[in-house]
Amino acid sequence: MLDWEELIRECKNCRKCELSNTRTNVVIGRGNKRATILFVGEGPGEQEDIQGLPFVGPAGKLLDLLLSALMFKEEDYYIANIVKCRPPNNRVPLDEEAEACLDYLRNQVLLIKPKIIVCLGATAAKHIIGKDIKITQIRGQWVERKGFFIMPTFHPAALLRDQSKKILMWEDFKKIKQKLDEIKQCFKGD
Ligand code: URA
Repeated sequence: MLDWEELIRECKNCRKCELSNTRTNVVIGRGNKRATILFVGEGPGEQEDIQGLPFVGPAGKLLDLLLSALMFKEEDYYIANIVKCRPPNNRVPLDEEAEACLDYLRNQVLLIKPKIIVCLGATAAKHIIGKDIKITQIRGQWVERKGFFIMPTFHPAALLRDQSKKILMWEDFKKIKQKLDEIKQCFKGD
């Protein structure tokens, strides 16, 4: 396992897949490095590639809005992606690109030690929960694995395309907040 400094250095020098040829910046993550919740998206978009931070474009604005409306605190979460470099034209990352990148995410999980992992969209759910998942079928249901509470939900960008998903995603985020509050209550005074 690498410490944060080593991990950041490795990611910045990474040439494990073709996405490294077209990236502007490697997008490692943002948020509290000791957070209870880890949000995982798909991969950086245009703004993320430019700024070197995840979820800072339109989908990120929506995510931030949801989080603040439900009174999540910034200290509660860390945000990362399945792949750390932008796929050209925002295409879905190929399986081999995700595989090449996932060890970095696993290393981040070991460092952050989150209790809750939220899969934002099908790509995150597929690589974290299982390749045959259907996001519309499993979203909103807790998966308990290796001591983590894992919640698959829609990707915020899906909401920008289809307003009918709004209520469902709101419900999923309420469950996440409830679980966070339970965990905080449990660990109070630790
Ligand atoms: N979409 C993602 O999946 N990740 C980002 O960082 C931004 C948009």
